[in-house]
Amino acid sequence: MDERKALVGRNLLEPGDFSESEMEALFDLADRIQQVPARYAEAAKGKVLAALFFEPSTRTRLSFETAMLRLGGQTVGFSEAQSSSAAKGESIADTVRTVGCYADITVIRHPKEGSCRVAATHSDVPVVNAGDGGHHHPTQTLTDLLTIRREKGRTCHLRVGLCGDLKFGRTVHSLIKALSVQEGIEFCLISPEELRVPSYVVRMIEVGGCKWSETRSLGEAISGLDVLYMTRVQKERFFNEEDYIRLKDSYILDEQKMQQAPEGMIVMHPLPRVNEIAAEVDADPRAVYFKQARNGMYVRMALIMGLLGIEEPETRG
Ligand code: NCD
Repeated sequence: MDERKALVGRNLLEPGDFSESEMEALFDLADRIQQVPARYAEAAKGKVLAALFFEPSTRTRLSFETAMLRLGGQTVGFSEAQSSSAAKGESIADTVRTVGCYADITVIRHPKEGSCRVAATHSDVPVVNAGDGGHHHPTQTLTDLLTIRREKGRTCHLRVGLCGDLKFGRTVHSLIKALSVQEGIEFCLISPEELRVPSYVVRMIEVGGCKWSETRSLGEAISGLDVLYMTRVQKERFFNEEDYIRLKDSYILDEQKMQQAPEGMIVMHPLPRVNEIAAEVDADPRAVYFKQARNGMYVRMALIMGLLGIEEPETRG
């Protein structure tokens, strides 16, 4: 059965909405697109993507928009709530119902957890969650899984360290959810006491039957990892600026720490980074975070094709 056909008209709200084989089909398509991008240059001709961003974004919004443009489609949208009718008090339900009259697919980032799920129940076109508060970010997870697959050759049997703000980091919650269902994943959760992973996320690990440990020390953990996923302390989710200032520089990955890391370990980060990875690490071949950002565009191209039911273009010439 064609796994991609099964995605037509669906929403992507959380990792787990797509099966393993549906995600594999998207990763295979992302590989094919990256190999011969010209072949896909008109795949989404005549289609419109709406990007509704009620919170700041660089990579997610621009990679979705460039993904659509590189498929020959077009984009509309806004990048701050103040420039939409939300500023006049319109509900997300009404906004999304209206946008579905204009666009073929709607991508939403919103500060409230669960808002994209509410939006999806009022939308006639596919809705993609581009980050709902401190909850989930499933397209970042597609990006992360594709990156791990490309760099490590597999997304199972890995020791994965997640470091930083594990409480508010939605990319962390989504990646843990996705990896928990894989064979042989061992999680090492590295955070200050105040930013430990929420209990509902720990439950996902336990339901998946994965091994896990917690530590405050990146230095202690780093030598036993295949993947190190660094994250920013999520300033915008703090109630109190003093707490943020106290915690913001809890971890700084520098070349000295990288010397203790295995040769085959990769360093990932959803970006933006603040201080948690020193710029000197960028030159280390194990640092893959900018490749990860690039992968995000290709996997979003594949996702758009899947949700819109766009067939593989005929090879020309
Ligand atoms: C992340 C996000 O928005 O959750 N960024 C992204 O989408 N690449 C991570 C972050 O903001 O720290």
